[in-house]
Amino acid sequence: MNTLPPGPEHLGLIDTLRCTFGSPALVIRRLAARHGDPFRVRTFNGPLTFIGNPAAIRAIYTADPETFEPFGVDVTEPIFGRTSVVVSTGPRHRRDRKLLTPPFAPAAAKSYASVVAEVAREAASQWTPCQPFSMLEAMQSITLDVVIRVVFGVKGEARIRDVRAAVLDLIHAMNPLILIMPAIRRPFGGFGPWARMLRATAALDALLSEDIRALRASGEDRSDVLGLMLKARYEGGEGLSAQEILDQLRALLFAGHETTAVTLAWAFYWLHREPDTLARVLAEIDGLGPEAPPEKLLGLPYLDAVCLETLRIVPPVANVGRVPRKPFALLDYTIPPGEPLVPSPLLVHGRDDLYPEPERFRPTRFLERDFSPFEFIPFGGGSRRCLGATLAMVEMKVVLAVLLREYHLRLASAEPIEHVQRGITLGPRGQVPMIVEGRRVRPIAREACLDRGSAVT
Ligand code: HEM
Repeated sequence: MNTLPPGPEHLGLIDTLRCTFGSPALVIRRLAARHGDPFRVRTFNGPLTFIGNPAAIRAIYTADPETFEPFGVDVTEPIFGRTSVVVSTGPRHRRDRKLLTPPFAPAAAKSYASVVAEVAREAASQWTPCQPFSMLEAMQSITLDVVIRVVFGVKGEARIRDVRAAVLDLIHAMNPLILIMPAIRRPFGGFGPWARMLRATAALDALLSEDIRALRASGEDRSDVLGLMLKARYEGGEGLSAQEILDQLRALLFAGHETTAVTLAWAFYWLHREPDTLARVLAEIDGLGPEAPPEKLLGLPYLDAVCLETLRIVPPVANVGRVPRKPFALLDYTIPPGEPLVPSPLLVHGRDDLYPEPERFRPTRFLERDFSPFEFIPFGGGSRRCLGATLAMVEMKVVLAVLLREYHLRLASAEPIEHVQRGITLGPRGQVPMIVEGRRVRPIAREACLDRGSAVT
């Protein structure tokens, strides 16, 4: 008996290109329909097994964490840093997760709601009525500022501006070649992408180190993630070193910024394609009254369902895998050590036995039934499930509610937008151009906006 899952011999060149630059969901779902779920396919990086079957996902997420290594660490290490929780394994990973859990626990995450609301209002105050703008860029800017203020705990306009500039420099220095070609990770006498990235990292680290030193010296009791991280102690009583804190902060930046931004841009997109859904969520938000504190928004069930449905239909992270250290029993198959397993949200979220009419954006499905942690996996699962999941949900709900309550928006184009690979995350193709039609309290004439062309694509 063949102990490996069925599948095509190779992922052909066209499908490889589609998975790298186009829509991997179409490829993965087609292969699962043809070969079964799970299926195994040989890619340029070796064989991978994709899994959308909840029983098989359960087997992976509930296995002893020591069974697996994380997948793709060599690719992501330059992004996340050598000692960060995103790439560490074994006892070190367990220790760091425990240490980093309090700043991301639900009570802490909820306490960040008013800062998130403030950041969203400030960003939207720059919007010009009737002008198309990039919703994706707007959300990237909001989620970046949330990381800077909530995670790094930076305060004061000038300081926020300096840190933002340093962070953007680092983001721009993340040349994709560094990720796919480890051989070029050399300083080359100060020239080239690796040297640029090291310089950008050092510049951001220098700014954050000043804040860490000042915070330690002042003994101030702060409730942002950095403040809580500085207070945290391992079981033996020792805390994280300054370098470890810097690695963790950079990892949180890269894990939390783009993922939340693309999900928010998608939520605006889907809501503005589905007028009934938009009307229902607006009625729920308006029901709280104009002065409702941001924390109140977190308890709105339909708003919650809108965020969950966005994460279901267009998950931003799809290729998170586990590499078994020894032969692993997956349903009736045996996966050899070293062969990555990928629990795939693209597959499980598209199953019509779980999500009838899976291609439809229908938030009520999340009000009609509960989904298990093996059926709904936008934040991964098991011992490495996303540490920032609660913060991400807080961010999404507050940003959506604050902006929807305030602005009349519309999509600049009626064309559907594809869900495509963008670097290490999946997101919308293009910028999700939208137009502000006015403030909801005093909408401007709709016709006034209709003649303007779309400059953002
Ligand atoms: C919509 C937004 C987000 C999505 C969809 C998302 C998704 C994910 C996924 C799929 C993983 C891998 C889980 C696994 O291996 O099973 C992950 C890991 C992680 N995420 Fe998120 N994430 C989001 C936002 C955030 C935010 C806001 C933060 C923090 C600021 C964050 C911090 C992390 C960290 C630290 C890990 C590594 C956990 C570990 O390896 O133990 N994420 N995320």
